[in-house]
Amino acid sequence: MLSIAVAKGRLLDSFIQLLEEAGYCCQLLKQDTRQLVLEIPEINLCFILAKPADVPTYVEYGSADLGVVGKDILAETDKDVAELIDLKYGRCRLVVAVPENLRISSVQDLDFNSRVASKYPHIANDYFNSRGIQVEVIPLHGSIELGPIIGLSEAIVDITETGRTLKENGLVIIDTIMESTARLAANHISLKTKRKEISKLISDLNSVIEGVV
Ligand code: PRP
Repeated sequence: MLSIAVAKGRLLDSFIQLLEEAGYCCQLLKQDTRQLVLEIPEINLCFILAKPADVPTYVEYGSADLGVVGKDILAETDKDVAELIDLKYGRCRLVVAVPENLRISSVQDLDFNSRVASKYPHIANDYFNSRGIQVEVIPLHGSIELGPIIGLSEAIVDITETGRTLKENGLVIIDTIMESTARLAANHISLKTKRKEISKLISDLNSVIEGVV
């Protein structure tokens, strides 16, 4: 049986839809349950329901053969996993945003030592360092848009999908760091020991993804 770590929420819902279109019946996954490990023997898959930022860790250590995770999280956590395919959903952008009323239009206009709140401290530090811009990145775990509102930071680095959260909190984008979509990643050893099963899953998923694109 192949084990797949996947985050609950938006990515899981889209992954279930993708699997079902590929002919895998995932009824059990749609039930309201607090169980964290769900085996579906009929399709030979075992789902591990994890927090998004932890998915690459389960895969790197081999606790899960596969993981479904955003490219943004893979880039931030930098775990040693094999990125297999772009699942082409969960599309979002990792951006730098500031309060609209600051009238800043470029990251170069940020004050020296500006504070930047982010759930992506590594990516944010790399981004500003590579541009020679001195800022203090403040790591947060969520609701990053709060930073500028309550005076914690001047700017944020966060993902945006529809743009609604930024807009409703008076923030505007001044740069895009990267685009992200969900990826299927694998443990290096599992790729060798379960090569046939993984290849079959990839081919089934690809037939749907390529049909959609
Ligand atoms: C993400 C992100 C933004 C929001 C953007 O947060 O951090 O807050 O979604 O989506 P939008 O552009 O469609 O409005 P998430 O819902 O993952 O929760 P979090 O803030 O607690 O991390």
